[in-house]
Amino acid sequence: MKQTVLSGIRSTGNLHLGNYFGAIRNFVRMQHEYNCFFFVADLHSLTTHPHPKNLHGNVRKVISEYLACGIDPELATLYVQSDIPEIPELYVLMNMNAYVGELERTTTFKEKIRKQPDNVNAGLLTYPVLMAADILIHKAHKVPVGKDQEQNLEMAKKFAKRFNRIYEVDYFPEPEAFSFTVDLIKIPGLDGIGKMGKSEGNAINLVDDPKIIRKKVMKAVTDAGPTEPNQKPTEPIQNLFTLLEVVSEKDTFDFFKEKFASCEIRYGDLKKQLAEDIIKFTDPIRERILSIHDDDAYLRKVTRQGAEKARESASKTLREVREIIGFRSF
Ligand code: TRP
Repeated sequence: MKQTVLSGIRSTGNLHLGNYFGAIRNFVRMQHEYNCFFFVADLHSLTTHPHPKNLHGNVRKVISEYLACGIDPELATLYVQSDIPEIPELYVLMNMNAYVGELERTTTFKEKIRKQPDNVNAGLLTYPVLMAADILIHKAHKVPVGKDQEQNLEMAKKFAKRFNRIYEVDYFPEPEAFSFTVDLIKIPGLDGIGKMGKSEGNAINLVDDPKIIRKKVMKAVTDAGPTEPNQKPTEPIQNLFTLLEVVSEKDTFDFFKEKFASCEIRYGDLKKQLAEDIIKFTDPIRERILSIHDDDAYLRKVTRQGAEKARESASKTLREVREIIGFRSF
């Protein structure tokens, strides 16, 4: 029996190179080895009150980008969270065993209170419960998440164990964080510090056209250049090398490394090359994103098929959970 892998994707912003090399590329590989569920967390997105005009477009964007990156709807189950009514039902049930105190103590909640003090809704407080319902509805074993989601995953684990204990069953498996031990590359941003992120304004989006990519790369932060041979590059320069390493041919990477070591490097040349190699990499993805994005029939087919497969698994779990809790029909 294949283990079940599940991950939710927030429907905000465009996917960037960091998302690709940090996560999506691994999702694409996992589809072959695991029973995979990937979904767009559009119910979760309501905590920030998106305008009704934008909600559907956001979901469409995320789905198109994931498909364009190689998520194969024949291998993985790709669906939209709000298409699965079993998830909010399990959420109601799980809420009864989640304590306000522990929810108030989660870091993500405390951060949200700080960021949106005028909109501290109950959905924010119970965000980890909905996330637990997402995971437990398919009895997932492994959840690939970033560092920022580790605490939420810990909560899901706790809720799973608590359910088993309260009802004296061995029903939910304890979901584990899936950390990629190999190939986990932290992709830096173009601003010289830290990693590439949606909100940092330092990202290259997969959907960016060549002109934008050239402009962003040419503006990347550098330094005054090496002053002695074999010097250790500063962070902004190391970041450019890291990007070069993932998108360029090895020869190209070695060439610039040598130029740097011998103090002959011209950052302008490096950036030009880097921009072209990024474009070579993202261009086919961008083209696929654009064509999928406008293909209503294909998107309808994929999401319907995804919802059907997801509901099959979800309704089985919910039926069993209701039975365990003690609901009986007349
Ligand atoms: N909270 C996650 C994020 O912000 C998205 C998410 C929702 C999720 N439900 C999930 C991730 C279930 C993993 C499993 O990125």
